[in-house]
Amino acid sequence: MKDIDKKALSWDEWDELNDPRPATCDFDRVVEAAISRRGFLGGILAFGSGAAVMGTATLIGTTSAEAQAASRIGFKPIPIATDSTVHVPEGYRWQPVARWGDPLFSDAAPFDPAGGIDLASSDKVFGENTDGMELFFVDGRQVIAVNHEYVNPEINLPATGGEVTNADEARLLQNLQGVTVMEVAEGENGWQIVVDSPYNRRIHHNTPMRLSGPAAGSDLLRTEADPTGTQSLGTFNNCGSGKTPWGTYLTCEENFNGYFGSTDPNAALPADYKRYGIGLESRYAYEKFDARFDVSKNPNEPYRAGWVVEIDPAKPDSTPVKRTALGRFKHENAACALTKDGRVVVYMGDDERGEYMYKFVSTGFYTPGGATEGLLDDGQLFAAKFNEDGTGQWVALTPDSTGMTTEEILVFSRMAGSKVGATTMDRPEWVAVNPVSVEGYCALTNNSRRGVKQDDGSIRTNAGGEAMTLNAANPREANDYGQIVRWFPDGEDHGAESFRWDLYVMAGNPTVHSDAYAGSDNVNEGNLFNSPDGMMFDQTGLLWIQTDGDDSNEGDFAGHGNNQMLAGDPATGRIERFLTGPVGSEVTGLTWSVDRRAMFVGIQHPSAPFPDGEGALPRSTVIAVMRDDGGLVG
Ligand code: FEO
Ligand code: CA
Ligand code: CA
Repeated sequence: MKDIDKKALSWDEWDELNDPRPATCDFDRVVEAAISRRGFLGGILAFGSGAAVMGTATLIGTTSAEAQAASRIGFKPIPIATDSTVHVPEGYRWQPVARWGDPLFSDAAPFDPAGGIDLASSDKVFGENTDGMELFFVDGRQVIAVNHEYVNPEINLPATGGEVTNADEARLLQNLQGVTVMEVAEGENGWQIVVDSPYNRRIHHNTPMRLSGPAAGSDLLRTEADPTGTQSLGTFNNCGSGKTPWGTYLTCEENFNGYFGSTDPNAALPADYKRYGIGLESRYAYEKFDARFDVSKNPNEPYRAGWVVEIDPAKPDSTPVKRTALGRFKHENAACALTKDGRVVVYMGDDERGEYMYKFVSTGFYTPGGATEGLLDDGQLFAAKFNEDGTGQWVALTPDSTGMTTEEILVFSRMAGSKVGATTMDRPEWVAVNPVSVEGYCALTNNSRRGVKQDDGSIRTNAGGEAMTLNAANPREANDYGQIVRWFPDGEDHGAESFRWDLYVMAGNPTVHSDAYAGSDNVNEGNLFNSPDGMMFDQTGLLWIQTDGDDSNEGDFAGHGNNQMLAGDPATGRIERFLTGPVGSEVTGLTWSVDRRAMFVGIQHPSAPFPDGEGALPRSTVIAVMRDDGGLVG
């Protein structure tokens, strides 16, 4: 790779650059190897393009005429797009609601495309790179909590071309990330931010937080500034989201590693940093101007990031809480469910090549209106094992099973997962729980290194040194398309420690390939997509799938078009395209108005002048999608 503008990279691309894939990848060899494994794969999934269906286990992609007729997908699917705007089906319309830089308070300066956002306004405007979100009904008002995953420094610091050269510039970037809480309302101009609402709030890299749960106060979490190990400043790389049964917001810290660096180029780093990708170089050079991010001075600071953070959108003065019982890794999102006896379950993915899926089960019981403060502080963390025969286990991460202390299990959850032999996955992105059936889904977005050999002939490993050999849930070498795995807890109880599983869909391209890379039977010329990422069920049990993949529309990705959102019917396997994003964007984040007549969708990092058209800057934006007839959209 040469002539790369590092500042223009998405966060995933930055991560890839810092841990690059091999220069050559023999695709023919990879495909041949995948085909030779078909006998083993056939029991778990059915390939498209005329491939024989083998075995007797659960098949995916049931697309019989009968099943299609029974589908709940009510819209007319749309074709791919490669242009600079959003498209939705006939009978639907969309409008922007909140763009990067839009004021949340009337004393914020209006957005200035030439000069950028000034420091004084930077914690009073809608942040950049919108991601996971949830809507809350608070005292008769509709309040959205929404993540701002990262910033593009070159458009926020136009005067320096994106270089951070002083503490104010570092602070500006810090203020534009984190979380926005904003009231929205529908008026004459459609859905808009309610400027100056008492619920409006920005939570960013310097917002005081509390650390709670079993790791709070541990030596690992103590720093010079906080010798108690119970206070923390800021939340980082807020990716996906979740909503608790008691109406609070869960924001998930994903690629937190990239915020920490060293002013001493020779600093010796703790051995555990490697597993989490923490190194000497940071992405935004905060460490040069803010010692908290300098690991040569504050080696414990990175342990205070990588958590799930609970925020109460109904209480603008409340302190966000980092829930250590849910483990520390590159958290994608947090999908809540209840066990049959009323304990709280949180399903979570760790988005990195070859990392694991997790779930937390509370010790206490949730009762509507009852006390909830301790529910996410006391419980058991598990990591997932997917067996070749379509069964699986949630393996408890305990001192007995891992040989680690409870504090170590929570701060170094990846190592705990390795100790129990959790299954290496193809980058677990969002988890979604079906509200009308006891089942969970996880988007395994892609893994270019799965099964790929290094120069010495050994298979590429995850950051913990475990070979990413093929396994039944992650069955394709050099998996650039991704798949969605789902599991059915035994006894129809999210509290069960065993489950059955299958693959709901293998993304692919049957117009280019006739082997495993064609995808599963429910992938066809009309619904091509790659790299499933955001996922959310609506109240009817339709699975909404958002993508963050290759939008070149060429070669292996011909016919895939821009990133998009599709709806999947779990019962029939049918998947249809509902929305296409502008070129360069990722579609991520989804929630609904209280009456379900508006759907809010996040458009992150467009490269086209979106949403305001020619001559305007590309701006990450939350849009609303409605039906022309005012009907329900989910
Ligand atoms: Fe921020 Fe894994 O997506
Ligand atoms: Ca994501
Ligand atoms: Ca992604």
